[in-house]
Amino acid sequence: AGTGTPKHFIDIGDFNAGELKAILERARNLKRTRRTPEAEKPLAGKVLAMIFERPSTRTRVSFDVGMRELGGETITLTGAEMQLGRGETISDTARVLSRYVDAIMIRMLDHNAVRELADAATVPVINGLTKMSHPCQIMADIMTFEEHRGPIRGKTIAWTGDANNVLGSWIQAAPRFGFKLNIATPEELAPRREIIAAAQREGADVTWSADPYHAAAAADCVVTDCWVSMGDEDAGRRHNLLKAYQVNKQLMSAANSDALFMHCLPAHRGEEVTDEVMDGPQSVVFDEAENRLHAQKGVLAWCFGV
Ligand code: CP
Ligand code: NVA
Repeated sequence: AGTGTPKHFIDIGDFNAGELKAILERARNLKRTRRTPEAEKPLAGKVLAMIFERPSTRTRVSFDVGMRELGGETITLTGAEMQLGRGETISDTARVLSRYVDAIMIRMLDHNAVRELADAATVPVINGLTKMSHPCQIMADIMTFEEHRGPIRGKTIAWTGDANNVLGSWIQAAPRFGFKLNIATPEELAPRREIIAAAQREGADVTWSADPYHAAAAADCVVTDCWVSMGDEDAGRRHNLLKAYQVNKQLMSAANSDALFMHCLPAHRGEEVTDEVMDGPQSVVFDEAENRLHAQKGVLAWCFGV
């Protein structure tokens, strides 16, 4: 268990630009030295508990591998196999786990419950996706954009589709990294006005419209995600509303000719994105998936203060 205030990683909005950039700088260094004699193992002897209330491929494997590459170990738990599933409170769970492990990564839809866990824990807590945000994803996304196109400051990112957790973290990143964010969603699935207003108050250039072509115009990157996120209901209605927001060749041609395509994955080919775009020359989705590993090693190093 740690001493002092633990360094949690819950939301991009909890950080200032300098801190986020320092985490990414560390991530780039860790990527560069991976599997070389220079590779650092600063987390030797440390244990990360990973709690998954929902399924995961990337988050689960990249945190596990990342922790091991930094010299540490992991324990993976699912909500159902913990007493959490039988009514033990989140704060009691946090206090108990803090006596055993050195950090906790959690994927749980209830964002407030993750905050509660962090408040009660005496070790760092990392958000591995809630209904509101997916901060680790956006760190990897920005790292990926910058690897391909240089500094993201002043660039235009277009989001088309549902206003979900991934978009929530993009919105918080906009004022901190200084990129323009054009959002297109159906009116009925639009992001909450307060979320955009908050980013604008922090100086971000964030726009919303119902027109994906408007959003994609002059974009340096087009981003989308699934139409039905974990915990969403009424899949049929969402599919109907979101059809026009598919990223296909036509929509990509509305963006800059060298625009990247990003998707956090898993993708639903033929729904939010066509095979042609997913597998096309503008797509960097697998670099993005790889960078989850490197970005999160940067996050882990920050949380552990090493
Ligand atoms: N992008 C992402 O978080 O993927 P997983 O759900 O597989 O972890
Ligand atoms: N928006 C998706 C992301 C999955 C990684 C979901 O919440 O299901």
